[in-house]
Amino acid sequence: MTDPQPDPAPDRPVDAPFGTLAERLVDGADPEQVARDLLDALTPAQRLDLMWGDADFWSGLAEMLEGGYNRRPYVAGEVPELGIPGLRFTDGPRGVSLGHSTCFPVAMARGATWDPELEERVGDAMGAEARAQGANLFGGVCVNLLRHPAWGRAQETFGEDPLHVGLMGAALTRGVQRHVMACVKHFACNSIDNARFQVDVTVSERVLHEVYLPHFRRIVDAGVAVVMSAYNSVNGEWCGQHHELLTTILKQRWGFDGAVISDWVFGLRDARLGALGGLDVEMPFRQIYAHALPGLVASGDVPEARIDDAALRLVRQQVRFSGAGDPDRTSIDVVASDAHRALAREAAVGSIVLLRNEPVGGAPVVPLDASSLRSVAVVGALASVPNLGDVMSSNVHPPSVVTPLAGLRSALGPEVEVAHDDGSDPSAAAVVAGDADAGIVVVGYTERDEGEYLPPMNATFLGQFGVPPMAEADGAALARAAERRTERAPATDVAGPTGGDRRSLALRPEDEALVAAVAAAQPRTVVVMAGSAVVTSRWHDLVPGLLVLWYPGMEGGHALADVLLGRADPGGRLPCVFPRDERGLPAFDPDATAVTYGLLHGHRLLEASGIAPAFPFGFGCSTTTFTLTDARTEPVDVTSDGVVSVRVTVRNTGNRAGTEVVQCYARAIGSAVERPPRWLVGFEKVRLDPGRSVDVSLAIPVAHLAHYDEAVHDFVVEPTDYELIVGRHSLDPDAHVTRVRVT
Ligand code: BGC
Repeated sequence: MTDPQPDPAPDRPVDAPFGTLAERLVDGADPEQVARDLLDALTPAQRLDLMWGDADFWSGLAEMLEGGYNRRPYVAGEVPELGIPGLRFTDGPRGVSLGHSTCFPVAMARGATWDPELEERVGDAMGAEARAQGANLFGGVCVNLLRHPAWGRAQETFGEDPLHVGLMGAALTRGVQRHVMACVKHFACNSIDNARFQVDVTVSERVLHEVYLPHFRRIVDAGVAVVMSAYNSVNGEWCGQHHELLTTILKQRWGFDGAVISDWVFGLRDARLGALGGLDVEMPFRQIYAHALPGLVASGDVPEARIDDAALRLVRQQVRFSGAGDPDRTSIDVVASDAHRALAREAAVGSIVLLRNEPVGGAPVVPLDASSLRSVAVVGALASVPNLGDVMSSNVHPPSVVTPLAGLRSALGPEVEVAHDDGSDPSAAAVVAGDADAGIVVVGYTERDEGEYLPPMNATFLGQFGVPPMAEADGAALARAAERRTERAPATDVAGPTGGDRRSLALRPEDEALVAAVAAAQPRTVVVMAGSAVVTSRWHDLVPGLLVLWYPGMEGGHALADVLLGRADPGGRLPCVFPRDERGLPAFDPDATAVTYGLLHGHRLLEASGIAPAFPFGFGCSTTTFTLTDARTEPVDVTSDGVVSVRVTVRNTGNRAGTEVVQCYARAIGSAVERPPRWLVGFEKVRLDPGRSVDVSLAIPVAHLAHYDEAVHDFVVEPTDYELIVGRHSLDPDAHVTRVRVT
């Protein structure tokens, strides 16, 4: 495997001025008035200048190639004479891409925590680290639904369900926005990566509003400052110039008063359509807008009022965030501080999903009994290398990484022999494992298997987009930059042929062979899977222990040891269904030019098709046992604007402290329209010591029972009966079914 940090970032990106906007807010000045006064102070040319990245296109590209990606914030619209800092953008979502920031578990892993309170703390840490390194805009709130697990960027989002993804994304946004602006992306219907520059998504009004937009809306309602459009097109129009999405829905219907930025280079095709469609900034260079907008305004093709609107949106958010963040929390010392690493470890423990935990010698295999262990075999190439996820825009360069092997060695100490075998020869690995008291097999994906995809930047590709004319000097600079970059970092980073969508959901055949060989030699075998959703059906019955580590962040090895040795309960529950095979999933073609998104995907589609999953949505084992009793719903008759309280008593009946996620699903009885067989309407994570119980009360707005009615272009709650099903995962056979009637 390649080193995920071949080209380390500098210790600290260049210091950036935050301007003096905060000073204008003294004495209780009204921020909106401050923004409007600033708008008045800007000349028409300066207002236009806010609408594109400050760097020149060709030299900016050359710098990206040569200096690396995300080495300092990308700036758009700085006006030093008025103290306007401009947007100073850095990427996410597993941490801040600048410098040597804390690397948290990827968003999909954090989705598995089902813990918005924890996610808000993670967001707070990311926001503080962004601000400490000169950024004022964090582009790490990625909430495109996981429509199919083969999506290369699955790891960047929180899961497959609109409510769950929305609640997690809103929590991340709230945390980040204590310090800097957050940017939610990619708006909308972006869930195939190889095809992202070409695919047109056909989606009905109902499916768009009911399935693919609610999580964005929740995050807009939480006050997100910036929305990033998507590369793909929807119903025949590119998202970067999509009037219905950007203006009618986002700005007018949802009342979004922040700014829309493009999904980066090549996120805009037509300046007039972009401006009229509602795109406020073309990032990150002087590309299409910078060259065409002044003329379009002069000719009256784009009204000045549109430019003023974009400028006001941008200035408003910069004023709003100019005073954000406690200076003590945003000094450079917070970056990868002990506290943030501890948080990364807590998030990783909370995200680990224990899928199988069968008894070996009378007790479940996890936790391993550390007091009787004399030796452990840790098998697999991924056990001893950092495996943090994609190395494209979401790359984070932490100062150190605890691998699974390092985590186990540190936790077990010198008394326990920890043997490592890289698994390249399954029979040799089986001998090593057979000789030990337990075998831990680490298998799965890396950044070479899945991630963001960049097509080759050849003339055919570039020809689809408007690029400014290239002067001779630009060409020479670009060629030099490309040459130096090839010398320095051949395999990974921005132009590497890595990642993309997955062609298979199974493990590599050699990984499957390794698991089978170790399992045959060592009864106490636990398989640890790295990466995103995996089809495990061919082999999971062979092993008593199976857990999903995802891409667990810089402290992942410690978190794994915490769970395997029983120092912490694995807190994760699947944020997406793990199917038995590809049957029953929506069609997925990485090379598609057209795709239709339907009403059902994920666990909803599998259940509607009568196909049992390998592991249901919301599933995960604890190392203790819980009961849910006394489920009741009040009131039982409600109106469409009401709130239902679903209560249940949760008791830890085992002898270890642990966590459970109480989940409530709805089912419409006798509905006149097609509905998913069941859908998530609420959840809460609880932590309980042995023998303790707690009454959990989920407040479910009746609005969560609504469907989108195209006849009235709005959500409606059908007056009928609904089951509210409270359990521990979407197919929990012990779930309690209560009923409510909507009148
Ligand atoms: C990606 C975005 C990212 C942006 C800036 C785009 O190609 O799709 O997710 O934030 O680049 O790096």
